Amino acid sequence: MRILVVGSGGREHALVWKLKQSPLARQLFAAPGNAGIAQLAECVAIGPSEVRRLADFATQKQIDLTVVGPELPLTLGIVDEFEARGLRIFGTSRRAAILEGSKIFAKHLMRKYKIPTGFFQTFDRLEEAHRYIHDVGAPVVVKADGLAAGKGVVVCRTVPEALDAATRMMEQQVFGDAGSRVVIEEYLTGEEASFLAFSDGETVIPMASSQDHKPVFDGDQGPNTGGMGAYSPAPVISDEIHRAVMERIMIPTVRAMTAEDRPFRGILYAGLMIKDGTPKVLEFNVRFGDPEAQPLLMRMDGDLLPVLEAVTEGQLREVTVRWHSHPAVCVVMTAGGYPGAYDSGHPIRGLEEAEAIEGVVVFHAGTARSGDTFVAKGGRVLGVTARDQTIAAAIDRAYRAVRCIRWEGVHYRRDIGRKALERWARGA
Ligand code: AMP
Ligand code: GLY
Repeated sequence: MRILVVGSGGREHALVWKLKQSPLARQLFAAPGNAGIAQLAECVAIGPSEVRRLADFATQKQIDLTVVGPELPLTLGIVDEFEARGLRIFGTSRRAAILEGSKIFAKHLMRKYKIPTGFFQTFDRLEEAHRYIHDVGAPVVVKADGLAAGKGVVVCRTVPEALDAATRMMEQQVFGDAGSRVVIEEYLTGEEASFLAFSDGETVIPMASSQDHKPVFDGDQGPNTGGMGAYSPAPVISDEIHRAVMERIMIPTVRAMTAEDRPFRGILYAGLMIKDGTPKVLEFNVRFGDPEAQPLLMRMDGDLLPVLEAVTEGQLREVTVRWHSHPAVCVVMTAGGYPGAYDSGHPIRGLEEAEAIEGVVVFHAGTARSGDTFVAKGGRVLGVTARDQTIAAAIDRAYRAVRCIRWEGVHYRRDIGRKALERWARGA
């Protein structure tokens, strides 16, 4: 099979790495890919949102399956465009991608179908949003309705902060049209986890649990990022919580989307808050998480390709997905300054030593090639991922590899996986 992966991050490197192992994969392409992906696939200079050009390319190269990494092309209707041209593609249709593309849609769906989530109201007028914030007080969470590159959520400790967040989104339009409508949501406490599942619109097959680390500094301090590291499994998801998430959230959401005539085919990703054994939904995504994909795909046993094909064909009930019992950990290494302004172009040293460690794979997120060397080019640069018998051993192995790698200004969190270790230490 000829396969095209759309996207250019660590998630897409992990997808290409996993698909490359499939005996069914004959040729791999990535658009636009990155310097790490270029070691495994042919990269073509087409951006992930250039939906028509991607479909032209897939037609011309007789691509048998296109796999979409990021959300933007999904919300732009890449799947609809490909299917209209008779091209096979893995991802959610535009009508289903609204689950991520509009937080207002997602919240109303959850309310209508009694899927557990925080209390909320939605607003398209600033004065009303302000009045509501005065009524409910703080802490409270203000969310832009549309896609805002992971920055559209503001957790507000005080009423003035919340008023200001609403003003910035609705009046100053800092996220453009995405913030012209907002959700104002109850502040939830507990421990977060990511729960992903494959769905063909009927059958729902859960993946192993995982946990992201969004804030840029250790101890969850500083501004949120795309994700500074992840591990799988997440011990906060006990077997009982796993069942509850499937029964109360994942299956009902897929059913609800079908009932709304928005059949959900692809990856359903629920960002959860878990407190006292009860999971609630913070947000839905319609794709693999990044960096969650890196440890998940490292733990997935067997061939990914037939699973993706089964989703596109509505045959997921025929498939079983197994997970390696050993945990995996991904530590993201970023450019200094990220998620704010950062430099790029610094040469990266030590990649070979890191990759020589058994059980370690270095996924590239933002790299380019300058002659024989890789250079940092992006906020998130690498996702150093390791698997081992225990979470503690996987953490040690990942950091052993991280310590081999250096470039000017490099930053990474030193505490990826600590929450899992603490939970184990408590015997939970
Ligand atoms: P989201 O992009 O919706 O996942 O939000 C980004 C981050 O904001 C989440 O990972 C949480 O840490 C935080 N967050 C979002 N919604 C809430 C909420 N209702 N209560 C507390 N924290 C939240
Ligand atoms: N890691 C969070 C996300 O992919 O949205």
